[in-house]
Amino acid sequence: MKIIIIGSGKGSNAEAIIQAKNHDLLGNTEIISIISDEIDSGILKIAEKYEVNSVFFEAGKTCFLEGEIERSWIQKISLLNPDLVVLAGFMKILKKDFIESVNRKIINLHPSLLPSFRGLNAIERAFEGGVKITGCTVHWVNEGVDEGEIIAQVPVRILESDSLGMVKSKVHAAEHCILPETIRNLSFSKR
Ligand code: GAR
Repeated sequence: MKIIIIGSGKGSNAEAIIQAKNHDLLGNTEIISIISDEIDSGILKIAEKYEVNSVFFEAGKTCFLEGEIERSWIQKISLLNPDLVVLAGFMKILKKDFIESVNRKIINLHPSLLPSFRGLNAIERAFEGGVKITGCTVHWVNEGVDEGEIIAQVPVRILESDSLGMVKSKVHAAEHCILPETIRNLSFSKR
């Protein structure tokens, strides 16, 4: 299974995927490229560090990947011909044409137990909302925001003594396990 990873941020999840691959924990998976819409992003530096092919694509200023820019992404990604697209901290909302261009084979990582806390700042909102259990989710991407069918989730307890920083660390640690595990499972599945 050939995957591409798309992200806008630090790239800690891309690093977890690469490390899983390097430890032979990613099943039948090949990471063919890492794409970012942020030229100075950590995720592109991670790609460089591990010598994974990487590329910067301009994604425009709106919260959607749309119009001419969307068409250009579709064209460039179709040349890579991935079996699975992995969104790891990609901060644009995808539209139907893009999702269909990769046969709906796109998964997203989100730092909450969906359907709770969709959208931005999910960990902060869970913490401030006083919930006792949050977590992270990997789901299929559809046209909604953090709405597609759930594939896997990991719960994370929020203890009385936890600071926001501690909860973030716990959620990220859970993400670094669940995303590579899910990719591994999908590499063996027929869907
Ligand atoms: C992760 O926490 C991921 O769940 C979140 O961005 C972070 C990326 O971290 N994604 C979203 O909020 C998408 N709705 P990373 O750049 O260190 O992998």
